[in-house]
Amino acid sequence: MAKISPSILSADFARLGEDCKCILDAGADMIHFDVMDGHFVDNLSFGIPVLKSLHKVFPEAVYDVHLMISHPLFYCNAFAQAGADYITFHLEAEDDIQATIDAIHACGCKAGLSIKPGTPAEALFPWLEQLEMILVMSVEPGRGGQAFLPSALDKLSAIRAECDRRGLTPYLSVDGGINDAVTGPQCVKAGADLLVAGSALFGADDRAKVIDAFHAL
Ligand code: DX5
Ligand code: ZN
Repeated sequence: MAKISPSILSADFARLGEDCKCILDAGADMIHFDVMDGHFVDNLSFGIPVLKSLHKVFPEAVYDVHLMISHPLFYCNAFAQAGADYITFHLEAEDDIQATIDAIHACGCKAGLSIKPGTPAEALFPWLEQLEMILVMSVEPGRGGQAFLPSALDKLSAIRAECDRRGLTPYLSVDGGINDAVTGPQCVKAGADLLVAGSALFGADDRAKVIDAFHAL
């Protein structure tokens, strides 16, 4: 059974609390919280105060924070304080990877590392033992609603095989262009066990039905 982490980048920000309640009631396993700094990616999204507000209203939810920012080391403690459970940063960001993983763990969170479409799966291998989540981007980070890049599938397979070989069980997550009909099933077949979906879920008339369909994969 795959788990689902809805990306609230596709929610209606004027009704963010209601949209979160809706997907949590419908069985979402986590809330995927996309942070953009206008530097690592050219877009801006939302940050620490928004997470803090959501955590206050939904303290039991699991917050899967995806930092698409150049300096995750500087900000990870503030996200932890605001309620993050998982903090995922990019291997292509500017901060020292070991120091950032250590800082995330030191503030009591689980650490995730993500790769962009142009980065090979093997670049993650030196860090696998220290990670609770791996996030393969299947679109260029920066915005929702883009088409899935099939090159993510071979990466998922390679990472799953390497984790199996080493006896590791971090979440293997995929983000970008994921739907319950085609790309989600392909990713699960390739080894993903946590699917991030934004537009396919928030754009659906019956979100509970889509979440059930993801869970059935
Ligand atoms: C992209 C974000 C994704 C995005 C996914 O930069 O990291 O989480 O919101 O949205 P969809 O599912 O619409 O591709
Ligand atoms: Zn994301």
